[in-house]
Amino acid sequence: MTEDKVKRAYKTSKNIYDDVLTQGNWLAKLYIKIFWGVDDNKLAERVLGFIPNDFSGKLLDIPVGTAIFTYEKYDSLKNAEIVCVDYSEEMLHIAKERFAKISNKKIICEQGDVGALGFENESFDILLSMNGFHAFREKDKAFEETARVLKKGGLFIGCFYIKKEKFLTDLIVKAVLSPKGWFTPPFQTKEELKHILESLYTQVDLYSEKSMVWFRCVK
Ligand SMILES: C[S@@+](CC[C@H](N)C(=O)[O-])C[C@H]1O[C@@H](n2cnc3c(N)ncnc32)[C@H](O)[C@@H]1O
Repeated sequence: MTEDKVKRAYKTSKNIYDDVLTQGNWLAKLYIKIFWGVDDNKLAERVLGFIPNDFSGKLLDIPVGTAIFTYEKYDSLKNAEIVCVDYSEEMLHIAKERFAKISNKKIICEQGDVGALGFENESFDILLSMNGFHAFREKDKAFEETARVLKKGGLFIGCFYIKKEKFLTDLIVKAVLSPKGWFTPPFQTKEELKHILESLYTQVDLYSEKSMVWFRCVK
């Protein structure tokens, strides 16, 4: 089943995930340089920059992954209620270990599927989804569910892969990342994504660099 493929993919890569995304060794640097040409650290900074430093509402992070990009920001958001969800228990376990070492103890972690969120309508002020939508299986449901649990006037922010912007990225996604389960098709072009976001949000600010988009949408 596809679910098992996704879980297996993130289970087997949990120990190398952080280094690949943050370019923690020369092989990861080379991989990112050749196939992506975009620095995920900078991308994460831009997305997290959409969260006010004095944010004191409710934030849902899905998928939290290992929290490699977010734990420092969350440590500083002492007055916020933060809920972190991921489909992979293994990735979530690493996130929990990270959160155990920071001083903000009000972060809740739970296993879940973005396509069937167990939260009431309009529960969150901010919904953060970094590097998730290219991995999600049921993308229509994921867009619907993330919009459903966000309050009116709330922010949907994040980043992920879009197709047809860089040949070598599309190639590695098709030849390796999708067959292995780290990514799950179908993917959107920038125009297709804009159309989807505009159907769900009143204000859509969409930016891109090579094959990555980042966005700030208001519900
Ligand atoms: C590339 S990682 C991104 C993690 C983190 N946001 C980051 O930027 O480092 C993708 C994550 O999506 C999770 N995932 C895949 N399908 C999911 C689903 N249906 N619901 C929730 N999480 C899912 C995977 O388990 C994995 O941890």
